[in-house]
Amino acid sequence: PTVGIPLPHESAALHVTGEALYTDDLIGRLQDVLHAWPVQAPHTHARVTSLRTEAAVAIPGVVRVLTADDVPGVNDAGVKHDEPLFPTEVMFHGHAVCWVLGETLEAARLGAAAVEVDYEPLPSLITVQEAIAAQSFQGTPRNLARGDVSAALADAAHVFEGEFEFAGQEHFYLETHASLALVDEGGQVLVHSSTQHPSETQEIVAHVLGVPSHEVTVQCLRMGGAFGGKEMQPHGYAAVAALGATLTGRPVRLRLNRTQDITMSGKRHGFHSTWRVGFDDEGHILGLDATLTADGGWSLDLSEPVLARALCHIDNAYWVPNIRVDGRIARTNKTSQTAFRGFGGPQGMLVMEDLLGRCAHVLGIDPVELRRRNLYQQDQTTPYGQPVRQADRLAACWDQIADSGEVARRRAEIADFNARHPHTKRALAMTPVKFGISFNLTAFNQAGALVHVYKDGSVLINHGGTEMGQGLHTKMLQVAATALGLPLSRVRLAPTRTDKVPNTSATAASSGADLNGAAIKNACEQIRERLAQVAGGRLGISPSDVRFADGVVRGLSPASGEVGWNELVNAAYDQRVQLWAAGFYRTEGLHWDAGAMQGEPFKYFANGVAASEVEVDGFTGAYTLRRVDIVQDVGDSLSPLIDIGQIEGGFVQGAGWLTLEDLRWDTSDGPHRGRLATQAASTYKLPSFSEMPGDFRVRLLEKAHEEGVVYGSKAVGEPPLMLAFSVREALREAAAAFGPGGISVELASPATPEAVYWALEKARTPQ
Ligand code: MTE
Ligand code: MOS
Repeated sequence: PTVGIPLPHESAALHVTGEALYTDDLIGRLQDVLHAWPVQAPHTHARVTSLRTEAAVAIPGVVRVLTADDVPGVNDAGVKHDEPLFPTEVMFHGHAVCWVLGETLEAARLGAAAVEVDYEPLPSLITVQEAIAAQSFQGTPRNLARGDVSAALADAAHVFEGEFEFAGQEHFYLETHASLALVDEGGQVLVHSSTQHPSETQEIVAHVLGVPSHEVTVQCLRMGGAFGGKEMQPHGYAAVAALGATLTGRPVRLRLNRTQDITMSGKRHGFHSTWRVGFDDEGHILGLDATLTADGGWSLDLSEPVLARALCHIDNAYWVPNIRVDGRIARTNKTSQTAFRGFGGPQGMLVMEDLLGRCAHVLGIDPVELRRRNLYQQDQTTPYGQPVRQADRLAACWDQIADSGEVARRRAEIADFNARHPHTKRALAMTPVKFGISFNLTAFNQAGALVHVYKDGSVLINHGGTEMGQGLHTKMLQVAATALGLPLSRVRLAPTRTDKVPNTSATAASSGADLNGAAIKNACEQIRERLAQVAGGRLGISPSDVRFADGVVRGLSPASGEVGWNELVNAAYDQRVQLWAAGFYRTEGLHWDAGAMQGEPFKYFANGVAASEVEVDGFTGAYTLRRVDIVQDVGDSLSPLIDIGQIEGGFVQGAGWLTLEDLRWDTSDGPHRGRLATQAASTYKLPSFSEMPGDFRVRLLEKAHEEGVVYGSKAVGEPPLMLAFSVREALREAAAAFGPGGISVELASPATPEAVYWALEKARTPQ
């Protein structure tokens, strides 16, 4: 079988040679392509009182200006119908009010500069605090509750309360948003789009054009990174390109440059939280009462499901017997915040990890010990009522890291080091992750696939998932080859298209391989069953005794002989046996009451534990990440190299969110209020080589077969991001080590060197 073999990404060679095709690369193969450029409003909140395009169309090379008047269908790009594609009210700084089409990008740019727009500025809300003060909320508030929190807090030996506001994160995928739309003779549209959710992009394009879905096909070749940022945000750009193409009859290309992408597209939600927590004398959590406010930005987008996941993950890996969490979504004049790796889970869990880190020393309990003591025990249930069936695995991960990471020995060494170094401190922190796999909304947990076997025995597979660098296609090739008993070289995978597999879910929630892999396996099994009939006839054995492996088909006993795959396929064709199949899968056993926030929304939990060691400079707050140990439960890995890559990449992206990446909006009352100040890599610090851990040890949990998932595997895409809490907690511990100890050290998020400096400065001189 080819599943479980460590293979490089199927496009690795193409990626590194630059030959891999992305959406925007296709324009080189087309003629008469028009380029789109947005007119971005220089206001944070304003009414558009008039919009004049005459001067723009007078510019040579400008072909047309697209405005609300041009929309034949619905002028809206959001699934919640709160995102006018061509708005009359500017909702954030840089909001596109209309789009200019030009023969060249330069003509379109000059045209956009010449469009005359009059604005009537309106008052704006930038920070989540401002929104809370103004009671500016959107969407449905949610509440998660179990037990009696008030009683638990009243009886608890130790009660603490706190407030914590933390920042969001820019996706900074290498490939910015891109769409390329083409029309054919009947006016049908083909949109190439860098989208995680081709079916929804198709739906929105159809709504905007006012045509049925079967008139629109969306294809996604691959994405140069998405990270959740292309789950919902591509729709409007695809619709603009499609509208331009239908109106001009020419291909229209829309690709945002970095500044446009970063100022127009949504980001990870920052949150504000307040909490009260009660512990017993041994440090067991007795009750948690919290309010989480997500900063949703100007429209809903995915804020509601992101909030639901935040609430469902506030427990992280810990048993909280009594709990009440109120969740709500602030409406602010910023980009519409959206999915980002972890989808709210990281935000919920950050509240918990932060409060444990703040309370440990005041409780007089070592933070590593405090966390271990609160880990779920077997079959305790989450606040929403799902049993934690693999608490033993969580414990196994914890023990493995404690052992292989030599945590006790290293912490003793660190204490010794710290005693000898007044201006440099080291610290090691351990944090767990338990992350629910499946879409909370049960209906999304379905997938389809199409598998073709051609007469020459070669196989083409199609599925509803999209490739964004995470290696989904590599895994899907391995699944198909394994299911058909073929070498990998006999199977090819074709780009994701809505006319091949319809009504797909977003490739998201880390469930791409679980869902699409099972659908592919289902299709392959249908074909195999039919071929087994044919082989049984030829070999004179029962079809149930036929086995497929390495391109050869045999009986159970060597005496029954064998037939080659190609020969068998030919024989089947001659017998008029269908050589292709559509596969389908739905995850069984899920149920979720979104209103009550109760049920079993997840097929299983992905488990992992990390230990991170940092060194902090007492003069500047600058730090290095000395060593990271991770063990992650990925079940029986479908593709171990891919999974290790996902763990490393996810962890580093999480560390970036928590310690480096600092989104700053202008919150002053000056002329640039609401403008994103960090618009480029020069001001928005991403992790790079120098921030990698000096020693990075990633292991997959062994003997981790997962029942009921494709070839015993588990999801890997998002969970490792949250292992980066260990870095933030290590920084807090190092800051604490500069002082006398025993106090609560507060640390801003992101914990930039500046933030770490202020934390250690406070630790040095406690009030
Ligand atoms: N890995 C890479 N290289 N690029 C990405 O954009 N997205 C992440 C994760 N890993 C991403 C990635 C996110 S947000 C999700 S939900 C999963 O991949 C989606 O893919 P999967 O379901 O196939 O794991
Ligand atoms: Mo991932 S945030 O579910 O696209």
